[in-house]
Amino acid sequence: MPLNHYLSKARVASRQDVIVRNVDKLVARLEGRVGTMTNLGAAVGALVQDLQCDFIIGKAYGSLEREDFNVAIADMCQSVGFLWRFTKHFPRVGKALKLIPLDFVSKLANNDAKTFFAFLQGIDKETERLLTTAKTSSPNKDTPHTIVQEIVDSSLPPSDKELPRVLNEVQTLVGAGLETVSGVLRLMLYHVFNDAEILQRLRAELKTVNTSPAGTVDLKTLEQLPFLTACIMEAMRLSPALASRMARIVPDRDLYYEDWCIPAGTPVGMTTIWMHLDEKLYPEPHSFIPDRWTDMEKRRASGKTYAPFSRGTRICAGM
Ligand code: HEM
Repeated sequence: MPLNHYLSKARVASRQDVIVRNVDKLVARLEGRVGTMTNLGAAVGALVQDLQCDFIIGKAYGSLEREDFNVAIADMCQSVGFLWRFTKHFPRVGKALKLIPLDFVSKLANNDAKTFFAFLQGIDKETERLLTTAKTSSPNKDTPHTIVQEIVDSSLPPSDKELPRVLNEVQTLVGAGLETVSGVLRLMLYHVFNDAEILQRLRAELKTVNTSPAGTVDLKTLEQLPFLTACIMEAMRLSPALASRMARIVPDRDLYYEDWCIPAGTPVGMTTIWMHLDEKLYPEPHSFIPDRWTDMEKRRASGKTYAPFSRGTRICAGM
């Protein structure tokens, strides 16, 4: 499947330049604002918006360059949560809403919503352009690698390479990695800067790392840092990511949960954050305690009770 291939760990690791490029922009913006009050949550949102677009459709959206970090996009992503939960129960409403042209909705919208719709329309427009180019000319060394090219080059049937389907893939992919990633980063930054000891330990660990001549550190090295890993794991435990139940149906066998038997074919759902906040599993569940994860034995033992990316066949493709 092109999506899984595009998001494979090896592929992401080979394109760290995309991450570095956008993080450098963020750092430059923050350096330029020393002494000025900055909305770090908005800045992180802008980083992720630019990164997602750069990685998926080969062009950063430009939120990092905006004076206000395009904060309206993150605000809107957060405030439409109720709609997402509602349409989960009434999927036909969601399908009907999608049929309303964005141009029309934009006319009725307030400024924040206009900015958000412009973001969605910008992605759609770029996707359409990329699809036309990918279908009419062969890629050369200057062609940015994008999911659109990946789909066109794949063995998928021609109907899956038509615009409506490709738009759907791109929208899903960009959307799936926005507030999930921004939320974890915001939560982690808040807790790390809120606790002097954690901040000092993290800085001390990062100082031990050798950087490349360009001043960068690769993913493999970062993954081996125990305290950084522990902070990330703890932030993902506390971050709801998808703050609603994940729906599943097991079609072919009964499920057993404690004394209960759930017959095959019964819709079930589980909301991960409830498991991550269960005090029997995680004492002081609302506290940010990276040391829960520094003991390798304990970390291994949490295999069944820690699932920020979900599990099984529907596991996060962007993990
Ligand atoms: C901290 C970051 C992230 C978290 C916590 C997260 C979490 C999740 C979870 C829990 C699911 C399962 C949803 C379900 O079972 O219904 C999921 C699915 C998915 N995620 Fe992520 N995600 C993250 C980042 C990303 C990124 C960066 C991308 C893409 C670039 C992405 C793409 C996807 C896709 C495409 C699916 C659907 C997979 C499928 O149904 O086959 N995610 N994610």
